[in-house]
Amino acid sequence: MTRPRFITFEGIDGSGKSTQARRFADHLRAQGTDVVLTREPGGSPGAEEIRKLVLTGDPERWSAETEILLFTAARRDHLEKTIEPALAAGGCVVSDRFADSTRVYQGATRGDLRAMVDQLHALMIGREPDLTFIIDMDPATALERGLARKSGEDRFEDFGLAFQETLRHGFLALAHANPQRCVLIDGNRTVDQIASEIAAYA
Ligand code: ADP
Ligand code: TYD
Repeated sequence: MTRPRFITFEGIDGSGKSTQARRFADHLRAQGTDVVLTREPGGSPGAEEIRKLVLTGDPERWSAETEILLFTAARRDHLEKTIEPALAAGGCVVSDRFADSTRVYQGATRGDLRAMVDQLHALMIGREPDLTFIIDMDPATALERGLARKSGEDRFEDFGLAFQETLRHGFLALAHANPQRCVLIDGNRTVDQIASEIAAYA
């Protein structure tokens, strides 16, 4: 396999994605690779503005359909302004979430909207990561960790535990459907144990 250059981390809220994305970016940099570490929603000034709209406020603030449009708009800006320029310059991009999050959070939690997600992705994004780490873990523990942060960006955590269980199954199904780019990682371990398993893919 050619060396992966566009790498994403996915999983439920509080599963350790940000921690592991940071560790993986540090590992690549220690090997002399140029790395842009980024996140979604966000990762460019315009997309960070959309982030505030989608992550704060009442859980019922937006329908799943409206969310698909907002997250895809944010992703398009992130792709144009951050991801594509970094890849064109020859570096690696490590992103904390990307399109798989929309497939699961918007496509499979409040009715089956996956076809709508896929159509908009094909029209506006049309790009997949080379490698995706899906961190799988117990939703109750992950939810506790996520809410303990008190980030003020808990609109999705506020949907509750059953929502996180549905998300977990969505991510597991996605990993099984896309074995060529997805690696399932057991997140119920220490940060160092998980990081060393992931580092082997650099
Ligand atoms: P995510 O980006 O998936 O929401 P974070 O990386 O922000 O997850 O981790 C959520 C919280 O859990 C943070 O406070 C982090 O320090 C902690 N954490 C991350 N990984 C682990 C782990 N393997 N074991 C215990 N705590 C962890
Ligand atoms: P993130 O900051 O990664 O949250 P956490 O640290 O809790 O995992 O992501 C913000 C939230 O946005 C998260 O609850 C998932 C949600 N989200 C979607 O619903 N759809 C998307 O396309 C993306 C990128 C994120």
